[in-house]
Amino acid sequence: MRGIILAGGAGTRLSPLTKVTSKQLLPIYNKPMIYFPLETLLQAGIREILVIVAPDHAGDFVKLLGSGKEFGCKISYEVQDKPNGLAEAFIIAENFLDKENVALILGDNLFEDDFIEPVRRFKSGALVFASRVPDPERFGVVEFDQNKKVISIIEKPKEPKSDYAVTGLYVYDNAVVQKAKSLQPSSRGELEITDLNTLYLSEGTLEVAFVQGKWLDTGTFEALYQATEFVRTKELQEK
Ligand code: G1P
Repeated sequence: MRGIILAGGAGTRLSPLTKVTSKQLLPIYNKPMIYFPLETLLQAGIREILVIVAPDHAGDFVKLLGSGKEFGCKISYEVQDKPNGLAEAFIIAENFLDKENVALILGDNLFEDDFIEPVRRFKSGALVFASRVPDPERFGVVEFDQNKKVISIIEKPKEPKSDYAVTGLYVYDNAVVQKAKSLQPSSRGELEITDLNTLYLSEGTLEVAFVQGKWLDTGTFEALYQATEFVRTKELQEK
């Protein structure tokens, strides 16, 4: 299994913090944000990682993470020229992925869970992780029937059908590259990961697992603050 950390995007919601640097380089208590998704991939046993960055601060990511040697992995880099959507990551990563399966994690997502088991068990199709949130309208939302079977995933619905958000860790088989190429941009002009998941769902090969521990998408000031508080509490407990 290969890993991708997607650290593109302009981070406009965090301006002016993101005027001179990338969102994913901002501090979460004692570490740059991107260390957390990197640790999640490493804990899942993934050692070949592609970091996809926006052009503006690409050099700073290389300066911070280097070859990956310090972290016991191999890191390579690609640039996403424009924020064309999460699903574009698989088109950019085509050569890196070769014939392998892939775990994509968003550079601003922080997970308490360890994903070694689900990643080890994964064979084919798609595996996404849902978490119960108070504000599902900010996310991709999973709709279930009475038997807890997934019926749909809707991107940022005005009237969410559940309070289960799709988190920013996605595991796919290698067919994801061709599937991503078949997508059309959404109304916000992006190749949506939700459309990709819907493709797998329509083929009957999408599995939804549930996150047990804390999950934070740190894209807003409030979430950034909560993440700092969460990491600080954990660090102090471990001392
Ligand atoms: C993206 C996805 C959304 C997912 C979220 C998780 O949202 O489009 O489905 O729930 O990441 O962080 P965005 O970061 O583009 O707002």
